[in-house]
Order: sequence, then C-alpha cells, then structure tokens
Amino acid sequence: MKKGVIFDLDGVIVSTDGLHYKAWKQMADREGIYFDQVINNRLRGVSRMESLAIILERAEKTYTDEEKLEMASMKNELYRESLSTLTPNDILPGVTPVLEKLRAMGVKLAIGSSSRNTPAILKQIGLGDFFDAVADGNQIQNSKPDPEVFLLAAKLLGLPPEECVVVEDAFAGIDAAKAGGMKALGVGDASRYEKADITAPTLAEIAPEKLIE
Ligand code: G6P
Ligand code: MG
Repeated sequence: MKKGVIFDLDGVIVSTDGLHYKAWKQMADREGIYFDQVINNRLRGVSRMESLAIILERAEKTYTDEEKLEMASMKNELYRESLSTLTPNDILPGVTPVLEKLRAMGVKLAIGSSSRNTPAILKQIGLGDFFDAVADGNQIQNSKPDPEVFLLAAKLLGLPPEECVVVEDAFAGIDAAKAGGMKALGVGDASRYEKADITAPTLAEIAPEKLIE
C-alpha cells in the first residue's frame, strides 16, 4: 500500500484549462498568432515560458527575450484576473470525497504542479491549508516531463518516491511520475495514455483503496 498521493492541480483538482486558454488566446490574437484548443492541449503540465514557446511555433516573426517575458506576463495578468472567479464549486467531480477518504486512511496528500499560481488557486477553491505538502512552479527549475516537482513533493511529505502515487491529467505529467519512479493514475486526457499504470475518466470513478494499492 502506498503512503502518499501527489495530485497535479490544473485538470485534476480543478479545471483551469479554459481560463488558461482564454488568456493565451487573447495574447495570441493581439499578436496575430494562430492558436486553438488543439494547441492548448499541448500546454498541459508545461511551464508558462515553455507554453509560450509552443504558441510561438505559429508566429511569423521572432521575438526578443524581453518581448517574450512581456507576453508571458500579459497572459498571466489576464489569467490571474480570471482566477478570481474560481470558487470551491469548481473542484472537479470526485475530488473532495477521494481526498477525505485518503486522509481518513492515514495517507499523506500533496500537490505537484508546474503552476506558479498554485497557492492562489488553492486558496480560491478553499484548499489553501488542506495538503500536507505543496510543490509548485515557484520551487522548481525543470517542469514536467522532468520529475523534479514530484520528487520535491515526495521529499516534503518525507516519503521515498516509490511510496507515492501520482494523479495526472497530462501526458507530460505521467512521464514525469514514471521518470521519478512513481506509479501514476491517468485521469481526463491522460486516461487514454498507455504509460499510465491505471486510468479513470475522473476521480469519481476510482476507489481510493484501488488508487493506493
Ligand atoms: C500547469 C498547467 C499548464 C500551465 C502551467 C504553468 O501545469 O497545466 O497549462 O502552463 O501550469 O502555469 P502558470 O500558472 O505558472 O502560468
Ligand atoms: Mg494538469
């Protein structure tokens, strides 16, 4: 039985995909760069600057590093504004009961997210003080598929990686978990990823006992 569960945030605990999309879309439109939902799917689990680099694959001009920082910061301002609309009602189906049951079973719970907005999002959805450990984009150098954020989460929980299971919706996140020597549950998009050890459409469809088996 595993002793810790590390949850990705965006797309696992709360769906911020649409909000990321809207903010990037506004930025891309302003620059006249083509951007759609399919490209947006590639941004899952990927850091802000790496997301921008993916969007700029469609750009017709090259941008200086300073311009890139400006674009990323414009996107983040728009995104931060939209985060103020999040409430505990935006917690995804099945999440709250799974968290409560795991906690009652004595399992340690952490967040492992590439997002630098993790503390703000957790606060907004009423989970600011819930987790035993939070590892996020503010504390790491390499974002998923690098295992850094999950290894940090395990360390903060005081557990070796092999005692932890990761819950992820991004292919890059499953790759990160595997690279870190952890088992991974793929939900949402990642429920169709063959590298996931187990899959479920949402957390509502998986028994907590099965998750830590
Ligand atoms: C998460 C999301 C990504 C996002 C990244 C950075 O991993 O899935 O889509 O690009 O966080 O988010 P941030 O809030 O720091 O811009
Ligand atoms: Mg995610």
